[in-house]
Amino acid sequence: DYESALGRDCTTLSRHVLQQLQSFSADAQDLSALMSRIALAGKLISRHLSRAGLMEGVLGFTGDVNVQGESVKKLDVYANDVFISVFKQSGLVCRLASEEMEKPYYIPENCPIGRYTLLYDPIDGSSNTDINMSLGSIFAIRQQEGNDLDGEAKDLLQLGSKQIAAGYILYGPSTILVYSIGKGVHSFTLDPSLGEFILSEENIQLPQHGSVYSVNEGNFWQWDESIREYIRYVHRTEGYTARYSGAMVGDIHRILVQGGVFLYPGTVKKPEGKIRLLYESAPLAFLVEQAGGRAITGTQDIMDVVPEKLHQRTPLIIGSKDDVALVESFIQRHA
Ligand code: AHG
Ligand code: MN
Ligand code: MN
Ligand code: MN
Repeated sequence: DYESALGRDCTTLSRHVLQQLQSFSADAQDLSALMSRIALAGKLISRHLSRAGLMEGVLGFTGDVNVQGESVKKLDVYANDVFISVFKQSGLVCRLASEEMEKPYYIPENCPIGRYTLLYDPIDGSSNTDINMSLGSIFAIRQQEGNDLDGEAKDLLQLGSKQIAAGYILYGPSTILVYSIGKGVHSFTLDPSLGEFILSEENIQLPQHGSVYSVNEGNFWQWDESIREYIRYVHRTEGYTARYSGAMVGDIHRILVQGGVFLYPGTVKKPEGKIRLLYESAPLAFLVEQAGGRAITGTQDIMDVVPEKLHQRTPLIIGSKDDVALVESFIQRHA
């Protein structure tokens, strides 16, 4: 019960990271500090979101268009800046790359010792901001390779297996942080009165199959015939249920817990779909694979995709093993 969760056995996030690594080596200390910083960003964003409707000038659009061609929300900018200011003080991160910044943000004063890069989606589900629906943040940490003197961040254009940690924060009725450092997937719930993320569930495993399919069916006639065939199959087969919230973090969290599949396939206008590889698909693929699920583009594992550019998109099919395999079989049949 909650009483014991607050007792001496309650595990905070930073303690959990150190326990997982079973060491006090420099790398373990770094990872623990990095995760604590991500948690701090999550707390700041969570607090801001919970009061958003009470303050002037927090909701709505900025009037700018980001590198993705999307209209930017004020909350996208706020959350983007929270991560920057939190990591400026960390000493550990030399670069941050996000959905909302065309080029990585460099923190030169950290660079001689800051050996890590943070990749992040500051607000996932931006269309949910002004209607009080769930939102998320997605993050991944990679080791910085080389000096990146030209500011091109070419070392980031590598496989998902280069991620040393990944996860998301879900701002729902409560704020939940889910992370992996390659040793299983663990979830924490923010206790706002303590300001601490407390361990909720360790070693989460996705069910092999689930009843949920999560996709924007408004794009039906924009998809490839193989995806339409899969959806037709789902429609005429008993036991499926549709869930799509507009924030992938929320939809994938449901699937992580209950099983099922989330799809964002390519469309006629956007053959690569919408979801960005380095700070959306790859971190979520890392997590879902750690939890016994799968993530593919349709023809390739997400973790095997070598990015060609920072903001590269990929089609994404992610979730329970059997459900992803079923979608894959439709794609292969039409190949
Ligand atoms: P973001 O808000 O970070 O740009 O990402 C939104 C993503 C994802 O969270 C969501 O599932 C999907 O885009 C919604 O897109 P559609 O409105 O095209 O379905
Ligand atoms: Mn997103
Ligand atoms: Mn976003
Ligand atoms: Mn966006």
